[in-house]
Amino acid sequence: MSKRLKELHDEITERLRGVVESPRREAELLLIAYLEKDQLYFITHQDDLIDDNDPRLLEWIVKRSANVPLEYLTNCVSFYSREFYIDEGALIPRPETEHLIDEVLRRVSIDEEIRIVEVGVGSGIISIMLALHLPKARFIAVDISPRALAVARRNIETFGLSDRIELREGDLLSSIDEKIDFLVSNPPYIAHDAQLESNLSFEPQNALFGGEIGDEIIQRLLDEVYARQISLFACEMGFDQKPKVQEYLKNFALQSLDFYTDYASFDRGFVLKALHE
Ligand SMILES: C[S@@+](CC[C@H](N)C(=O)[O-])C[C@H]1O[C@@H](n2cnc3c(N)ncnc32)[C@H](O)[C@@H]1O
Repeated sequence: MSKRLKELHDEITERLRGVVESPRREAELLLIAYLEKDQLYFITHQDDLIDDNDPRLLEWIVKRSANVPLEYLTNCVSFYSREFYIDEGALIPRPETEHLIDEVLRRVSIDEEIRIVEVGVGSGIISIMLALHLPKARFIAVDISPRALAVARRNIETFGLSDRIELREGDLLSSIDEKIDFLVSNPPYIAHDAQLESNLSFEPQNALFGGEIGDEIIQRLLDEVYARQISLFACEMGFDQKPKVQEYLKNFALQSLDFYTDYASFDRGFVLKALHE
């Protein structure tokens, strides 16, 4: 059976009503991705006949109606104007993480031969974007999840960066003996009992939850910065975690501590320049 695109759009919109925030827009995005076309095509081909029995389309509609994120259906996510592979093994990159990358780039010059370590590489977006901007930097990117590392590996290979981004499996910095010039992380930072939107249940839970309070991993990373004499540390955090970070850092000597905000003007992270004896 075939249906006109506009009828299919109406039908999918109804299936998504009450599940997602903007059902009409989400139905449009699903169809655009399915057809592998753009929005202009979608608008100008409303009377085209589409096979609405295609198993792939039916599967996408069923899964999207259960609130599975579209990115996990298309295996594609856009971040910092680039396309990355994604699957359920890794967190879907969020636009606010672009700020973390910008904060690092602001502090490293293009010809610096430094070693940057990323903790919690996930899909690889942070190390990859930094490597594209910093051609002389070398990276070690760690994750505790083998599934996340598989996603990162695939993206690193696609961008031709396997010779500059080394992946390691491990808990925080446990797999690293080398000197670290700049530590970067978007760690899990949500409290275990936080009430979250249902679509987040499809993402790896160890990518989201940072402990009972939420900032436990951030504190462990701060301890590592001082134990290993790391000069610079850039870290994403929850919008309400600034006072806790400030409080925790009262125990440590600082050259500077700059907090930054995200697109919605929420506190979203910090860059710390440590003072070591
Ligand atoms: C919030 S996600 C960030 C993923 C990616 N860097 C991004 O920004 O989209 C956090 C990542 O940290 C990893 N992770 C959680 N606990 C960890 C630990 N103790 N040591 C290393 N990685 C960890 C998770 O598997 C997940 O991939």
